[in-house]
Amino acid sequence: MSHTKKVLASVAALASLAALCAVLFFFLPHSLPPVAPSPKQPTGQALIERGEYLTTAADCAACHTTRGGKPFAGGLPFKLPFGTIYSSNITTDNDHGIGSWSDAEFVRAVRSGVGRHGENLYPAFPYTSYALLSTDDILAIRAYLRTVAPVSEPSPSNSLAFPFNQRWLMRGWNLLFLPWSEYQVDTSKSDEWNRGAYLVEGLAHCGECHTPRGLMFQRMQRKALSGGEVDGWKAWNITNDSATGVGGWSDADLASFLSTGHAKGHGPAGGAMREAVDLSFSKLPTSDIRAIVTYLRTVPAVTADPETKVSLVVPSASDTPSSSLGARIFAGACASCHGKDGSGLVNLRASIQGAHAVNDPKGANLIRLILQGSSDEAKEPGRTMPAFKSIYSDQEVAALANYVIERLSGKVGEVQAADVAGARE
Ligand code: HEC
Ligand code: HEC
Ligand code: HEC
Repeated sequence: MSHTKKVLASVAALASLAALCAVLFFFLPHSLPPVAPSPKQPTGQALIERGEYLTTAADCAACHTTRGGKPFAGGLPFKLPFGTIYSSNITTDNDHGIGSWSDAEFVRAVRSGVGRHGENLYPAFPYTSYALLSTDDILAIRAYLRTVAPVSEPSPSNSLAFPFNQRWLMRGWNLLFLPWSEYQVDTSKSDEWNRGAYLVEGLAHCGECHTPRGLMFQRMQRKALSGGEVDGWKAWNITNDSATGVGGWSDADLASFLSTGHAKGHGPAGGAMREAVDLSFSKLPTSDIRAIVTYLRTVPAVTADPETKVSLVVPSASDTPSSSLGARIFAGACASCHGKDGSGLVNLRASIQGAHAVNDPKGANLIRLILQGSSDEAKEPGRTMPAFKSIYSDQEVAALANYVIERLSGKVGEVQAADVAGARE
């Protein structure tokens, strides 16, 4: 289906939902019941520390802090097909932040995507995952955020086209797609499995990126974790499928990838995954990483994107590479860090043999990585991947990508100059 048709179909579906919502609106409760922690909730400094850990695991900063910006002051743009929205200021500022919000209002926002004055928030804020969080955990996050310095800056206003600027339309969407209750422990499974499920489905919200979305931007739960898209990057299939998912990875490789952003024979984490690892997963205790791996092992296998199936090709370093344009650029600009065979010269992270990104004939992530470089915050000159967007033309990047794909996966690369031009936007 063309993009325009998709958008029109969404508009039509939203419009019919709107009628339903207008009716339901009058039956919804309008006052907020107070919320209270359970007797198990720590207090004082212990509560703030627990809140800090949970805020890290939920990666609130990834969206609410801009590069070089003040912590939690918001303003990060989210470009959607029908306009741009910005993350909110969630510092303790009374006017522009959430300083004067009640606990009940905060819990409702995180769990149900409803703002202070009852207005609906957009699901670029992953509240459909956070809906699974316990009240205690949300209140602990609140306690930590109360220690954040106030920033008196409004977030930029959204630019959404009609009818998408009608926040109340989300009421119908929520009825269809918002989980009805917080996470329910499955007593037939181990504590570790339940912890992993809580992290993957709720707190660490892996599905927000790794689950494919339907026409209405909803996560398609029947294909949970079988591969999604973030800003043009592919967030690969991480179900237990052995051919196209992570079923063939060892537990140790998965744990290493999540906690360091690299696993030998699987390459490094690029794009939003590098950010998630740096800001969040690398700071989790090993017990949480183990729990995530335990849970991932039981995610029903879905075969998806078979053309990107990984085959580890180890080229001989002594091969004389061809004299094609791509080969010449690789030898001149890339081999000094990656080695002629991609085994990695500068550090372990530069070992790219077996990376999913070089096994995708369309090169979706590969061209973005070449243009943007590593998304590592602490860019160390010479150690992390630099950005090449101002150095090579679209044709050169396409030729280079096709060469890398062929040399490291044995597949025929299909990258066109137009794909590179598209990825520059
Ligand atoms: C993937 C990005 C993303 C993550 C992760 C995220 N948020 Fe947000 N958040 C947003 C966006 C975007 C908005 C604005 C939504 C809108 O305007 O409809 C928002 C809005 C909010 C609001 C409403 C503020 C207001 O003024 O109405 C609160 C509260 C909030 N987020 C808290 C959190 C907390 C707490 C976390 C971590 C547990 C978190 N967010 C994680 C993107 C994110
Ligand atoms: C903000 C979006 C985002 C979130 C959240 C996220 N991922 Fe990812 N993930 C990605 C992207 C994008 C890639 C592809 C990176 C690349 O090709 O370099 C990826 C790659 C991976 C890979 C490598 C798969 C392969 O075949 O190479 C694994 C494993 C993974 N993610 C697991 C997870 C788990 C587990 C979570 C939650 C604990 C998670 N991710 C959360 C975006 C995300
Ligand atoms: C200064 C050293 C350096 C140079 C030069 C360099 N890279 Fe990298 N590259 C890295 C490092 C380090 C990583 C791991 C990035 C990370 O962990 O964020 C990486 C990652 C990659 C990946 C893995 C992508 C993924 O998401 O799995 C590919 C593919 C890649 N580089 C290709 C290239 C190509 C092609 C060139 C030449 C244009 C190049 N690199 C130049 C250091 C370099």
